[in-house]
Amino acid sequence: MARPPSPEQAIDRLRRAFGGPAGHRTLHAKGRFYSGTFTATPEATALCRAGHLDGRPHEVTVRWSNAAGTARADAKPDIRGMAVKFWLDDGSATDLLGQTSPRFPTDDPEVFVAMTEATEKPLTLPLFLATHPGVLPTVVASLRAGAVGRPASFAEVTFYPIHAYGWLDADGNRTWVRYAFRPTATKGDRPTEELTGRDRLFDELAARLERGPVVHEVWVQVAGAGDDPHSATSVWKGARELLAGRIEVTAPVDDPEGGPMSSTPTVFDPSRVVDGIELSDDPILRYRPGAYTESVARRTTS
Ligand code: HEM
Repeated sequence: MARPPSPEQAIDRLRRAFGGPAGHRTLHAKGRFYSGTFTATPEATALCRAGHLDGRPHEVTVRWSNAAGTARADAKPDIRGMAVKFWLDDGSATDLLGQTSPRFPTDDPEVFVAMTEATEKPLTLPLFLATHPGVLPTVVASLRAGAVGRPASFAEVTFYPIHAYGWLDADGNRTWVRYAFRPTATKGDRPTEELTGRDRLFDELAARLERGPVVHEVWVQVAGAGDDPHSATSVWKGARELLAGRIEVTAPVDDPEGGPMSSTPTVFDPSRVVDGIELSDDPILRYRPGAYTESVARRTTS
């Protein structure tokens, strides 16, 4: 594995690749905030003692986004994001950041940064793929899953938080799990008005939420013998799957950041966990917080 870029170098390179506007997120620059609840199933409560998995409804803050580092029209093909902050009774929170690709291309942060740079210069992408054949299985899996697409709605796609997390039960027994946020909405739930503007995905959600909640079921795959929890690229056989709960988004909320160069940033951090949840040694998971902190520093005023 190459020496990873420093957070400053990574953020410099990613910002340069997109030429995105100052004061915005380096990636997932365009997004909006929503509120709702999460309620865990008894099966999840039995396996994990974390406060938000106690089976009662807990508030969530959700941000749906497009992955690009600049605010493009929603009609452009892109990976989409669903970041969720689960609020516990004591005011603390834990975060999961999902995106539409079911797999991550690499365990090496340098390769991720280089691939993002190459994706923004279409002529260099074939060369990148030819010199990094290890990412091809993910590219194929993502294309098959329609991960880099033009979805009709954030309400109709599955989001994958990628990393494994260790669930600890009341006695300290650990279960490694990987999450998927699966939608319950169908084509039949679509708003009737035709939406074609730059922000059509967000306009669609506003129209949909006027009529009722948008629900994603939270499923987890439980690691089987031999499944590696310490790698973003490992493909699990999985011992079983279980329904862990439901995220029910009920309304858009005003941007809590109040626009670019905010002094009150909302930060979703995949390493923000609470008692009952453990981090793996996955090198991508461990790399992310430093890069996110640097990105937050560039988009805020202190
Ligand atoms: C080395 C790997 C990665 C790097 C360097 C990276 C970098 C970033 C950066 C700089 C941001 C903006 C943070 C901010 O300003 O608040 C971001 C946001 C985001 N990333 Fe990553 N990322 C990586 C891997 C991933 C993975 C594996 C996922 C999905 C599982 C993911 C999903 C997201 C999402 C959903 C957001 C938007 C969060 C929000 O709405 O505030 N990223 N990423």
